[in-house]
Amino acid sequence: MSEKVLEGKVGLVFGVANKRSIAWAIAQAWHEAGAKLIFNYQGERVKENVEELAATFGDDVSLAPCDVSNDEEISSFFDFVRTKTDRVDMMLHSVAFAPKESLSEPFVSTSREAFRVAHDISAYSLIALARETAPLMTEGGSILAMTYYGSVKVIPNYNVMGVAKAALESSTRYLAYDLGKQNIRVNCISAGPTNTLAARGIAGFGGMLSHVKERAPLPWTGDSSALAGTGVYLASPASQFVTGQVLYVDGGYEILGM
Ligand SMILES: NC(=O)c1ccc[n+]([C@@H]2O[C@H](COP(=O)([O-])OP(=O)(O)OC[C@H]3O[C@@H](n4cnc5c(N)ncnc54)[C@H](O)[C@@H]3O)[C@@H](O)[C@H]2O)c1
Repeated sequence: MSEKVLEGKVGLVFGVANKRSIAWAIAQAWHEAGAKLIFNYQGERVKENVEELAATFGDDVSLAPCDVSNDEEISSFFDFVRTKTDRVDMMLHSVAFAPKESLSEPFVSTSREAFRVAHDISAYSLIALARETAPLMTEGGSILAMTYYGSVKVIPNYNVMGVAKAALESSTRYLAYDLGKQNIRVNCISAGPTNTLAARGIAGFGGMLSHVKERAPLPWTGDSSALAGTGVYLASPASQFVTGQVLYVDGGYEILGM
């Protein structure tokens, strides 16, 4: 495969918090493949981190705030995007959140509010961002979201986030159906346990990671760089007829029965 498969492409990246973020691993790979990127950041708390990371790409990057639970921020983020480019080719959704107690207490105690917040930020946001991005994808495009196996199997403590990931994966299929006519593809990467800030919010995450490291057919490292190549593949023409899919990048753990 040519090294610059995304030369001349423009990408939106949602979900960089720090250098361990899955979004950062995919953004680096998109950048190395030749893409120009526009980043969001969630509030002032992470602004500096994202600024510093984005600056490593030189002048060809820009960023703006966007809390995906806020329609006005989504709208002003896309106003900003339209000042930078009149075309977008790919969009990465690498954003999730659930209140901390819902990732440790028994699932049956999930509150209405925790359920709402988890689904709003982790699943509905894909629909809202796709709706804004699609009109900019004038030459077709690729939308990519991050999911986890806890959507289809019970992973202790993953709880309401598993239910939200099921909604995210289903939304991916419905969006793929709607947007296919515009030659926009929508897919998920289901990542194996990866050592990031969000992951450390799940009670017992260390145990999840070592379980997969011990059992997966391939040696799983738990490092976000494992997701980078698939991020490029799903953004590139090599995957031009792939849409509505959940692609497992987990060292093969998903195939196991025991
Ligand atoms: N780490 C894992 O083991 C793993 C496995 C499979 C899937 N995922 C998924 O990968 C994605 C990225 O997570 P990560 O592990 O890189 O962790 P991370 O903490 O680096 O990234 C999560 C991002 O979500 C953003 N976010 C949360 N609430 C937001 C809001 N209201 N508005 C805007 N942004 C918001 C945070 O700012 C952060 O940048 C998530 O969807 C996560 O569920 C992670």
